[in-house]
Amino acid sequence: MDGAVVSGDCEAGLNTPLPAHLAIGDNGVRRDLAATKPPGGWMQAVHPSALVDPAARIGAGSLVALGAIVQAGASIGAHVIVNTGAIVEHDCVVEDFAHVAPGSVLGGGVHVGQGVLIGLGARVLPGVRIGAWAVVGAGAVVMKDVADGQTVAGVPARPTR
Ligand SMILES: CC(C)(COP(=O)(O)OP(=O)(O)OC[C@H]1O[C@@H](n2cnc3c(N)ncnc32)[C@H](O)[C@@H]1OP(=O)(O)O)[C@@H](O)C(=O)NCCC(=O)NCCS
Repeated sequence: MDGAVVSGDCEAGLNTPLPAHLAIGDNGVRRDLAATKPPGGWMQAVHPSALVDPAARIGAGSLVALGAIVQAGASIGAHVIVNTGAIVEHDCVVEDFAHVAPGSVLGGGVHVGQGVLIGLGARVLPGVRIGAWAVVGAGAVVMKDVADGQTVAGVPARPTR
């Protein structure tokens, strides 16, 4: 599969032992589809221009997109998207099915729970914990921990409801 260009309908990976990748933006849909494991298992996709420190871990089925950076000691779970130009600093933990949107930055030691969306261009200060399935609005600066399922937005980020 290395270097293969796939477009349009493609069923080969469902019926043959080839590794597959879920390129679906919705975190919940990605989680649900991940339960149907393909015969060849899930593969990581790391863009050639991305920088992933050798001391970082990238889980099965995760994507590190164009120009993204994942620093030493970071741990990226399964079916995570680290999108275009995003930065995941040292010792972050990003749990399964999360999406770190384009241009966003996670400071050192940030913990991102399962299924979280970190919106476009958001910043999360070092050591902050974002609870499972929370949403961080585009452009937010998150200075305090965020509860499970909470949506926060703004600078500094505050709950939206
Ligand atoms: C924060 C967010 C989740 C809120 O979505 P929502 O609940 O549908 O909110 P609404 O669009 O109804 O807006 C509600 C209010 O919040 C404000 N608001 C919405 N998003 C905001 C943001 N990112 N920052 C600051 N304020 C925001 C709106 O202006 C509105 O204010 P008002 O009530 O004074 O008019 C959403 O706007 C957002 O930022 N999502 C991230 C999208 C993204 O980056 N996706 C990644 C794509 S790759």
